[in-house]
Amino acid sequence: MLNTDTCSIGELSSRLDQLPTFPLAHLPTPLEFLPRFTEALGGPRIWVKRDDCTGLAFGGNKTRHNEILIADALQQGADTVVWGAGIQSNNCRQTAAACAKAGLDCHLVLGRGAPANGPDPVQGNLLLDHIVGASIEIVDEPEGPELDEKIAQAAARLQNDGRRVYERDPKYVKPLAALSYVGCIIELIEQATTADLIFDALYVCSAGSTGAGIALATAALGLALPVTCATPIVWPWDTQAAMIRIANDAAERLAIRTRLNSDSFELTEDYVGPDYGVLTSGCLEAIELLARTEGILLDPSYSGKSMACLIDHIRKGILPRDQDVVFIHTGGTPALFAYNEQFANEIDRPSF
Ligand SMILES: Cc1ncc(COP(=O)(O)O)c(C=O)c1O
Repeated sequence: MLNTDTCSIGELSSRLDQLPTFPLAHLPTPLEFLPRFTEALGGPRIWVKRDDCTGLAFGGNKTRHNEILIADALQQGADTVVWGAGIQSNNCRQTAAACAKAGLDCHLVLGRGAPANGPDPVQGNLLLDHIVGASIEIVDEPEGPELDEKIAQAAARLQNDGRRVYERDPKYVKPLAALSYVGCIIELIEQATTADLIFDALYVCSAGSTGAGIALATAALGLALPVTCATPIVWPWDTQAAMIRIANDAAERLAIRTRLNSDSFELTEDYVGPDYGVLTSGCLEAIELLARTEGILLDPSYSGKSMACLIDHIRKGILPRDQDVVFIHTGGTPALFAYNEQFANEIDRPSF
């Protein structure tokens, strides 16, 4: 255990390096300045950390998470991973792809969130789940405790069938996944140092491990870098308290003394809109503006909503215009294809 609350990048990296990882990601992901997007918004200077480019079946934040979780599954001697989330889950798509690469079987329990209204369109992430060879069970439940129960039942059934199941109990896996985002911040700070840059604020989409790991790393390194997490979902529990627990469990695993509290990072649920996965006008604007100024795609449930938060904070003057802000792009873009009809109806289509 370190005897200070903060540590150097070298100390933090060497602690992280002791964790087993299964290589999946294209790292370091690029750090890019967004000149035309910045200009369109009238400043501050906006940078993007391209974690949508982590690779593995279209990339995203779960590629980093899975580098640690798949290593853990292999170390435990598992032959099957059971996981689940919403029907357009990026997490499930990347987990299924990671299992394919590691030679593990993957069973997904996907919640459509409402009773079936005809066949489930095999599109976006669900299409990719099929292509990478996951076994798929679709149920009516939305993400949350009832779906978690269905996932646990599927794991028990497969265990009874004689499989060695890596079940990914959230209390156990979320701190492990968070550690991968401690690694992302180390990478980001090294890139910023090389570019002679100091960031004044960081924005990310998270209601769990990603933001917990980011906030833990900034606190552990003693950075004056305010972190804002825009959540994609309103959980039926105190999300910030849950993320603090994840971060502090992760700190314990790293044997560092840093601990988070409710002042350690900002969390906003203001950009979720009517529900998880429902496209909002702010999200649509963010997707169009970034695509049309920089050619970079966001997604309708996660990165689009967190970018809508950043844009709104600029317009409200929460972010001074002479600063440097970094947006961690967590991916999610395959879900765009599952919203094809809505986008076709709602996007602004220029004609010349
Ligand atoms: C694209 C994308 N961004 C952000 C998140 C949020 O991740 P977490 O809440 O685990 O930090 C997810 C979760 O599935 C995601 O798919």
